[in-house]
Amino acid sequence: MRTNIIAHRGSRSTHPENTLEAFSEAIRVKSDGIELDVHLSKDGEVVVIHDETTNRTTGVAGIVAEMSLAELKELDAGSFFSPNFAASKIPTLVEVLELLDQVGFNGILNIELKTDKTAYVGIVQKVYRFVQAKSRNYSVVYSSFNYDTLIEMKKIDDQNQIALLFETNNRNLIELDGCYPVEAWHPHYKWAKLRLLNEVPNLPMRVWTVNDSDDIRYFIKAKVAAIITDYPERALEIRATMVVEEKV
Ligand code: G3P
Ligand code: MG
Repeated sequence: MRTNIIAHRGSRSTHPENTLEAFSEAIRVKSDGIELDVHLSKDGEVVVIHDETTNRTTGVAGIVAEMSLAELKELDAGSFFSPNFAASKIPTLVEVLELLDQVGFNGILNIELKTDKTAYVGIVQKVYRFVQAKSRNYSVVYSSFNYDTLIEMKKIDDQNQIALLFETNNRNLIELDGCYPVEAWHPHYKWAKLRLLNEVPNLPMRVWTVNDSDDIRYFIKAKVAAIITDYPERALEIRATMVVEEKV
Protein backbone atom coordinates (compact mmCIF):
# COMPACT_ATOMS: atom_id res chain seq x y z
CA MET A 1 0.00 0.00 0.00
CA ARG A 2 1.32 3.41 -0.98
CA THR A 3 1.36 6.18 1.62
CA ASN A 4 -0.56 9.14 0.25
CA ILE A 5 0.88 12.62 0.59
CA ILE A 6 -1.70 15.18 1.71
CA ALA A 7 -0.84 18.87 1.56
CA HIS A 8 -1.61 20.47 4.93
CA ARG A 9 -3.57 23.73 4.46
CA GLY A 10 -2.30 23.51 0.86
CA SER A 11 1.43 23.72 0.26
CA ARG A 12 1.87 25.66 3.48
CA SER A 13 5.66 25.73 3.41
CA THR A 14 5.80 27.58 0.09
CA HIS A 15 2.53 29.54 -0.07
CA PRO A 16 0.19 31.26 2.41
CA GLU A 17 -1.85 28.53 4.12
CA ASN A 18 -5.47 27.84 3.17
CA THR A 19 -5.44 30.10 0.11
CA LEU A 20 -6.20 29.23 -3.51
CA GLU A 21 -2.50 29.82 -4.22
CA ALA A 22 -1.49 27.19 -1.65
CA PHE A 23 -3.99 24.68 -3.03
CA SER A 24 -2.91 25.34 -6.64
CA GLU A 25 0.69 24.68 -5.66
CA ALA A 26 -0.28 21.45 -3.89
CA ILE A 27 -1.99 20.35 -7.09
CA ARG A 28 0.95 21.48 -9.26
CA VAL A 29 3.38 19.27 -7.36
CA LYS A 30 0.89 16.39 -7.70
CA SER A 31 -0.04 15.93 -4.06
CA ASP A 32 -2.32 12.95 -3.54
CA GLY A 33 -4.54 15.04 -1.34
CA ILE A 34 -5.30 18.44 0.13
CA GLU A 35 -6.29 19.30 3.68
CA LEU A 36 -8.15 22.51 4.56
CA ASP A 37 -9.98 23.98 7.56
CA VAL A 38 -13.49 25.44 7.55
CA HIS A 39 -15.38 27.90 9.75
CA LEU A 40 -18.61 29.90 9.38
CA SER A 41 -18.68 33.65 8.90
CA LYS A 42 -21.25 35.86 10.66
CA ASP A 43 -23.50 35.68 7.60
CA GLY A 44 -23.23 31.91 7.43
CA GLU A 45 -20.67 31.45 4.63
CA VAL A 46 -18.30 28.50 4.82
CA VAL A 47 -14.81 30.02 4.79
CA VAL A 48 -11.40 28.39 4.60
CA ILE A 49 -9.05 29.57 7.34
CA HIS A 50 -7.28 27.79 10.17
CA ASP A 51 -7.78 29.99 13.21
CA GLU A 52 -11.02 31.20 14.80
CA THR A 53 -9.47 34.65 14.52
CA THR A 54 -7.98 36.61 11.64
CA ASN A 55 -4.99 38.22 13.29
CA ARG A 56 -2.23 35.68 12.61
CA THR A 57 -2.86 35.25 8.88
CA THR A 58 -4.13 38.72 7.93
CA GLY A 59 -2.61 41.10 10.47
CA VAL A 60 -6.07 42.43 11.31
CA ALA A 61 -7.69 41.51 14.62
CA GLY A 62 -11.09 39.91 14.21
CA ILE A 63 -13.22 36.87 14.99
CA VAL A 64 -14.33 34.89 11.95
CA ALA A 65 -17.76 34.12 13.45
CA GLU A 66 -18.34 37.84 14.04
CA MET A 67 -17.33 39.03 10.57
CA SER A 68 -19.30 38.94 7.33
CA LEU A 69 -17.86 37.35 4.21
CA ALA A 70 -17.47 40.83 2.70
CA GLU A 71 -15.39 41.92 5.71
CA LEU A 72 -13.26 38.77 5.55
CA LYS A 73 -12.73 39.26 1.82
CA GLU A 74 -11.26 42.70 2.40
CA LEU A 75 -8.35 41.16 4.29
CA ASP A 76 -4.92 40.38 2.88
CA ALA A 77 -4.32 36.70 3.64
CA GLY A 78 -0.92 36.48 1.99
CA SER A 79 1.45 39.22 3.22
CA PHE A 80 1.99 37.53 6.57
CA PHE A 81 3.72 34.82 4.55
CA SER A 82 5.44 36.99 1.93
CA PRO A 83 4.83 40.37 0.26
CA ASN A 84 4.59 38.45 -3.03
CA PHE A 85 1.20 37.17 -1.91
CA ALA A 86 -0.40 40.47 -0.87
CA ALA A 87 -3.31 39.75 -3.22
CA SER A 88 -4.24 36.44 -1.60
CA LYS A 89 -7.69 36.25 -0.03
CA ILE A 90 -9.49 34.00 2.44
CA PRO A 91 -11.37 31.65 0.11
CA THR A 92 -14.83 30.21 0.57
CA LEU A 93 -15.16 26.44 0.46
CA VAL A 94 -17.13 26.81 -2.77
CA GLU A 95 -14.23 28.68 -4.38
CA VAL A 96 -11.86 25.86 -3.48
CA LEU A 97 -14.28 23.25 -4.84
CA GLU A 98 -14.48 25.25 -8.07
CA LEU A 99 -10.69 25.29 -8.33
CA LEU A 100 -10.61 21.51 -7.87
CA ASP A 101 -13.18 21.13 -10.66
CA GLN A 102 -11.24 23.43 -12.98
CA VAL A 103 -8.02 21.47 -12.65
CA GLY A 104 -9.71 18.08 -12.68
CA PHE A 105 -8.39 17.16 -9.23
CA ASN A 106 -8.76 13.44 -8.61
CA GLY A 107 -7.11 12.93 -5.23
CA ILE A 108 -8.37 13.18 -1.65
CA LEU A 109 -9.97 16.32 -0.28
CA ASN A 110 -9.76 16.37 3.51
CA ILE A 111 -12.15 18.94 4.93
CA GLU A 112 -11.45 19.62 8.60
CA LEU A 113 -14.49 21.03 10.39
CA LYS A 114 -13.18 23.43 13.03
CA THR A 115 -15.98 22.96 15.53
CA ASP A 116 -13.80 22.17 18.52
CA LYS A 117 -13.74 25.76 19.82
CA THR A 118 -16.80 27.36 18.18
CA ALA A 119 -20.06 25.46 17.61
CA TYR A 120 -20.83 26.90 14.12
CA VAL A 121 -24.45 25.74 14.03
CA GLY A 122 -25.36 24.44 10.57
CA ILE A 123 -21.81 24.10 9.25
CA VAL A 124 -22.09 20.32 8.75
CA GLN A 125 -25.20 20.62 6.58
CA LYS A 126 -23.74 23.47 4.53
CA VAL A 127 -20.43 21.77 3.88
CA TYR A 128 -22.19 18.55 2.88
CA ARG A 129 -24.55 20.43 0.55
CA PHE A 130 -21.69 22.24 -1.22
CA VAL A 131 -19.71 19.05 -1.68
CA GLN A 132 -22.71 17.11 -2.96
CA ALA A 133 -23.52 19.85 -5.46
CA LYS A 134 -20.30 19.03 -7.31
CA SER A 135 -19.79 16.10 -9.64
CA ARG A 136 -16.45 15.23 -8.13
CA ASN A 137 -13.56 13.21 -9.46
CA TYR A 138 -11.99 13.19 -6.01
CA SER A 139 -12.86 11.54 -2.72
CA VAL A 140 -13.79 13.54 0.37
CA VAL A 141 -12.78 12.82 3.94
CA TYR A 142 -14.36 14.84 6.74
CA SER A 143 -12.23 15.20 9.84
CA SER A 144 -12.66 17.00 13.14
CA PHE A 145 -11.39 17.08 16.69
CA ASN A 146 -15.10 17.23 17.61
CA TYR A 147 -16.53 13.73 17.45
CA ASP A 148 -20.15 14.97 17.61
CA THR A 149 -19.56 16.87 14.37
CA LEU A 150 -18.42 13.68 12.68
CA ILE A 151 -21.45 11.77 13.90
CA GLU A 152 -23.65 14.57 12.55
CA MET A 153 -21.91 14.22 9.18
CA LYS A 154 -22.45 10.45 9.21
CA LYS A 155 -26.14 10.82 10.07
CA ILE A 156 -26.70 13.07 7.06
CA ASP A 157 -25.30 10.42 4.74
CA ASP A 158 -23.77 7.15 5.84
CA GLN A 159 -21.56 7.18 2.76
CA ASN A 160 -19.66 10.12 4.25
CA GLN A 161 -16.11 9.18 5.23
CA ILE A 162 -15.30 10.47 8.71
CA ALA A 163 -11.96 10.60 10.48
CA LEU A 164 -11.23 11.47 14.09
CA LEU A 165 -8.46 13.96 14.77
CA PHE A 166 -6.56 13.79 18.01
CA GLU A 167 -3.38 15.19 19.38
CA THR A 168 -2.29 13.03 22.26
CA ASN A 169 -4.33 10.90 24.55
CA ASN A 170 -3.64 7.84 26.57
CA ARG A 171 -5.86 5.53 24.60
CA ASN A 172 -4.27 2.74 22.69
CA LEU A 173 -5.50 1.71 19.27
CA ILE A 174 -7.82 -1.05 20.47
CA GLU A 175 -9.55 1.29 22.92
CA LEU A 176 -9.92 3.89 20.22
CA ASP A 177 -11.41 1.37 17.85
CA GLY A 178 -14.08 0.46 20.37
CA CYS A 179 -14.94 4.07 21.24
CA TYR A 180 -15.21 5.75 17.92
CA PRO A 181 -16.80 4.11 14.89
CA VAL A 182 -14.99 6.11 12.22
CA GLU A 183 -13.37 5.19 8.91
CA ALA A 184 -9.92 6.51 9.81
CA TRP A 185 -7.82 8.07 12.50
CA HIS A 186 -5.92 11.28 12.05
CA PRO A 187 -3.45 11.33 14.92
CA HIS A 188 -0.66 13.73 15.76
CA TYR A 189 2.64 12.27 14.58
CA LYS A 190 4.15 12.00 18.06
CA TRP A 191 1.30 9.81 19.25
CA ALA A 192 1.46 7.73 16.07
CA LYS A 193 5.19 7.16 16.41
CA LEU A 194 4.81 5.86 19.92
CA ARG A 195 1.86 3.58 19.15
CA LEU A 196 3.17 2.14 15.92
CA LEU A 197 6.11 0.65 17.79
CA ASN A 198 3.85 -1.98 19.38
CA GLU A 199 0.50 -1.92 17.66
CA VAL A 200 -0.83 -2.43 14.17
CA PRO A 201 -3.75 -0.14 13.40
CA ASN A 202 -6.82 -1.80 11.92
CA LEU A 203 -8.10 1.43 10.45
CA PRO A 204 -6.30 3.73 8.01
CA MET A 205 -4.12 6.30 9.75
CA ARG A 206 -3.40 9.69 8.26
CA VAL A 207 -0.75 11.24 10.44
CA TRP A 208 -0.13 15.00 10.88
CA THR A 209 1.86 17.18 10.59
CA VAL A 210 4.87 15.29 9.26
CA ASN A 211 7.48 17.75 8.00
CA ASP A 212 10.89 16.42 8.98
CA SER A 213 12.49 14.27 6.24
CA ASP A 214 13.35 11.44 8.64
CA ASP A 215 9.79 11.40 9.97
CA ILE A 216 8.43 11.38 6.42
CA ARG A 217 10.59 8.33 5.69
CA TYR A 218 9.58 6.70 8.97
CA PHE A 219 5.85 6.89 8.29
CA ILE A 220 6.15 5.86 4.64
CA LYS A 221 8.13 2.83 5.79
CA ALA A 222 5.47 2.14 8.42
CA LYS A 223 2.96 2.11 5.53
CA VAL A 224 0.48 4.50 7.12
CA ALA A 225 -2.38 5.42 4.77
CA ALA A 226 -1.24 9.02 4.47
CA ILE A 227 0.89 11.75 5.90
CA ILE A 228 -0.42 15.28 6.12
CA THR A 229 2.49 17.64 5.53
CA ASP A 230 3.36 21.29 4.95
CA TYR A 231 6.00 20.04 2.50
CA PRO A 232 4.15 17.97 -0.12
CA GLU A 233 6.85 18.35 -2.77
CA ARG A 234 9.57 17.17 -0.36
CA ALA A 235 7.44 14.22 0.77
CA LEU A 236 6.66 13.19 -2.81
CA GLU A 237 10.37 13.26 -3.68
CA ILE A 238 11.23 11.16 -0.63
CA ARG A 239 8.52 8.64 -1.47
CA ALA A 240 9.76 8.39 -5.06
CA THR A 241 13.31 7.71 -3.84
CA MET A 242 12.07 5.03 -1.47
CA VAL A 243 10.17 3.27 -4.24
CA VAL A 244 13.35 3.18 -6.34
CA GLU A 245 15.38 1.90 -3.35
CA GLU A 246 12.84 -0.87 -2.74
CA LYS A 247 13.18 -2.08 -6.32
CA VAL A 248 16.99 -2.30 -6.21
O1 G3P B 1 -5.90 17.73 9.78
C1 G3P B 1 -4.64 17.71 10.34
C2 G3P B 1 -4.30 19.01 11.00
O2 G3P B 1 -4.70 20.03 10.15
C3 G3P B 1 -4.95 19.18 12.34
O3 G3P B 1 -4.48 20.28 13.02
O4 G3P B 1 -4.47 22.57 13.81
O5 G3P B 1 -3.32 22.03 11.68
O6 G3P B 1 -5.80 22.04 11.78
P1 G3P B 1 -4.51 21.79 12.54
MG1 MG C 1 -6.43 21.26 9.84
